[in-house]
Amino acid sequence: MAEQPAGAYGGVPAVQRKLTIPEIVGMKAERKRITTMTAYDVAFARIVDAAGIDMILVGDSLGMVLLGHATTVPVTMDDMVRHAAAVSRGAKRAVLVGDMPFGSYQAGREEALRNAARFLKEAGMDAVKLEGGHEVVDTVRALVENGIAVMGHVGLTPQRVAQFGGFKVQARSAEAARRLIDDCVALQEAGCFSIVIESVPAAVAALATERLRIPAIGIGAGADCDGQVLVLHDVLGLFGEFKPKFAKRYADLGSAALEALQRFDREVRDGTFPGAEHSFAIKDAELAALRRALDEPVRPKKVS
Ligand code: KIV
Repeated sequence: MAEQPAGAYGGVPAVQRKLTIPEIVGMKAERKRITTMTAYDVAFARIVDAAGIDMILVGDSLGMVLLGHATTVPVTMDDMVRHAAAVSRGAKRAVLVGDMPFGSYQAGREEALRNAARFLKEAGMDAVKLEGGHEVVDTVRALVENGIAVMGHVGLTPQRVAQFGGFKVQARSAEAARRLIDDCVALQEAGCFSIVIESVPAAVAALATERLRIPAIGIGAGADCDGQVLVLHDVLGLFGEFKPKFAKRYADLGSAALEALQRFDREVRDGTFPGAEHSFAIKDAELAALRRALDEPVRPKKVS
């Protein structure tokens, strides 16, 4: 398929200059809010990019919203690399972050390095994200020392949903909130360029954000983070299994898609699709010759 021309979506230029990770970090000091959205394929990556979103996260949420799993736990590195590569073919401006799936970084620094490198070499990502606090600090340091930019992720880390007993708000006690803030600072010192803070009270996220030099990107963490991230399928109304309180639906593409497909179904059944404008013509003379040829008796094949 041809490249989307600039202005393909609502007149917004599809490509400007590629953003860099230092520019994302610098936005915190400039008090510019940072927008981040997930995407998992080339079509939506082009649209998210054209909308001017600063970072695209190829999240392991794809396990739930694309692959139909109940959690993100079953997602594999091969799933992630395939989708991340598609996103990098579509997005030209946003900083691209590949999400390390469960089991791809816990077994040790070497395995984490090998898997993180796949995101950069095979999938065109600029950075990787991994979940956890103090327990992943050594891994983060190893990745950063080896040239891989890392985004942290604390709070409700969905790969631990079984331990949490469900998708529950975290850091509600003073003690747990203190641990979360300490984890954020430890991740920053290990070299993370930003940290996702998910599903924690707004006041806790605000305290973490003001203690960090790097951007805090909130999801269900209030308005005082340096930026916000949401899951694309929640935003566009394409995922109805459950709706987290923090997810705002900006469009109902699910209903629009259903209506379009019902129209296709109706029009095929009643013969209104395809119309002449969707069909190919043959010259009258060619058609007449074809008819004459078809009217000729079929000659038996010679048997030698
Ligand atoms: O996988 C994902 O989409 C995420 C975001 C919810 C931050 O980790």
